[in-house]
Amino acid sequence: MRRLADAGVESPRVDAELLLAHALSVPRARLLTLDDVPDDVAGRFGELLAQRADRVPLQHLTGRAPFRHLELAVGPGVFVPRPETEQLAGWVLERLAGRTAPVVVDLGSGSGALALSIAQELPGARVVAVERDPGAIEWTRHNAAARAAAGDTPVEVLAGDMTDPELLRALEGTVDVVVSNPPYVPDGARVPREVADHDPPLALWGGPDGLDVVRGLLVTAARLLRPGGQVGIEHADAQGGSLPALVRAHGGFTDVEDHPDLAGRPRYTTACRAGG
Ligand SMILES: C[S@@+](CC[C@H](N)C(=O)[O-])C[C@H]1O[C@@H](n2cnc3c(N)ncnc32)[C@H](O)[C@@H]1O
Repeated sequence: MRRLADAGVESPRVDAELLLAHALSVPRARLLTLDDVPDDVAGRFGELLAQRADRVPLQHLTGRAPFRHLELAVGPGVFVPRPETEQLAGWVLERLAGRTAPVVVDLGSGSGALALSIAQELPGARVVAVERDPGAIEWTRHNAAARAAAGDTPVEVLAGDMTDPELLRALEGTVDVVVSNPPYVPDGARVPREVADHDPPLALWGGPDGLDVVRGLLVTAARLLRPGGQVGIEHADAQGGSLPALVRAHGGFTDVEDHPDLAGRPRYTTACRAGG
């Protein structure tokens, strides 16, 4: 644990426990009643600690990332889903509660965290997951296939660019919710080593103000949403003013609101497609 703390790992105890549990192939709670660690497991645990001290993300070492009620497969080539994004999924679910067969589009799906949670928690929904990165979409497809095999409503996975004016033409004006956790980090911003060295660049960087992809995403959202349909977009702490301003400036949305995360930091913007 000391080794992780010295390396600047944010939660050294939790990470060490999760890595030991992973090396033992047991749940973390089982460590409480552990008498002994076999030599081969101790060796494996040491290797994992060394990698974590070198700031390899915990989730890449365990190969799993929790998200709401799911455990998603993650690794090199895909963005590790973050707990703060769970609230955005919750917002979508609240908006659609009681609606029969709503249509949801997740733009920039990565591991599929948002799309697959929504499909799991809203079984009647049609959910389309769009991903541009050829490496990341392998993970989207893998997780979507695993969840469908587990009995969740299948999610449609589409290779595409969320800023492409031709994207999902057949769904124009019919979508109930467009949701996205797009790349929004301003170019050149300082990010932790886990992020800089292991999250894919396409998942992170959003141009000088971080909002380059969002500009195109807003045009797509306005085109896909039915009148009265809603869009929810995650953003950086510093974009709680600039992103809502961008949505208002688009002119095609009403009821623009920004929402804090559980730590009270500005985290996502929502709006309603005008005409509803
Ligand atoms: C911050 S990650 C979010 C992934 C996932 N939705 C989540 O919340 O964990 C952004 C994702 O958008 C994808 N992406 C970036 N630009 C894109 C574009 N123009 N069109 C479609 N996907 C894009 C990235 O490859 C990445 O998977």
